[in-house]
Amino acid sequence: MTEPKRSRARRLYGRTSGHRLTKRQQTLVDVRLPTLRWPDEGRLDIHSLLPGHDGYALEIGFGAAEHLIGQARRAPGIGFLGIEPFLNGVAKALVGIDSYGLTNVRVKRSDARDEMNRMPSAGFDRIFLLFPDPWPKKRHAKRRFVQPDTAEEFARLLKPGGRLRVATDVRAYADHALPILIGASGLNWTATQASDWRCSPVDHIITRYQSKRLGDIEPVFFDFVKG
Ligand SMILES: C[S@@+](CC[C@H](N)C(=O)[O-])C[C@H]1O[C@@H](n2cnc3c(N)ncnc32)[C@H](O)[C@@H]1O
Repeated sequence: MTEPKRSRARRLYGRTSGHRLTKRQQTLVDVRLPTLRWPDEGRLDIHSLLPGHDGYALEIGFGAAEHLIGQARRAPGIGFLGIEPFLNGVAKALVGIDSYGLTNVRVKRSDARDEMNRMPSAGFDRIFLLFPDPWPKKRHAKRRFVQPDTAEEFARLLKPGGRLRVATDVRAYADHALPILIGASGLNWTATQASDWRCSPVDHIITRYQSKRLGDIEPVFFDFVKG
């Protein structure tokens, strides 16, 4: 079996640390994170990472982790992998994992583009990309997480029947992402009427970031199913 390609050095835009961590957060980063993250090299075997789970979900750019932790609490039989480069977000996820005694979550401080190509094809039941950094200026469009190659990776990582959710409250991002996702092989947009993407899905968990309403449109939720 060939080793997954290590991606060319990619530039990560956006901040990767902020306020000083609290004592509890720092302890969790020092002691707990090394037990919850996965190795930097080689193929990632999610079944060995989180054995005995009925299915797997991936959240990319989980921010302060309210959605990741909330979904993991709701579905203890599902193994959740979260990737976030921002240290303070990772620290918040660790606090959630610790506070609720969750055993079905693994987190990594990383760029998800570097992790996805090490993950198994058809491994995930759900993928969430919620309110990604919008980079609303046209000249920054290349910085947006949704690109033709990441959309193809979403399709590869999902099991047949698995679901992808991309949400945004920025028109430029919605206009950019939707045609790319529709064009990805094997991803089928589930919407049949405007309310399907304009209304918050019943299983969605609102984060503090979303509730700040920083965007220029009401949130839209693009749900896709892998054919
Ligand atoms: C606008 S915030 C939204 C956070 C969260 N999804 C929410 O809805 O509250 C976008 C997040 O994506 C993270 N992010 C940016 N680039 C990323 C990348 N390449 N891989 C993983 N996460 C990334 C940022 O650090 C930030 O926490």
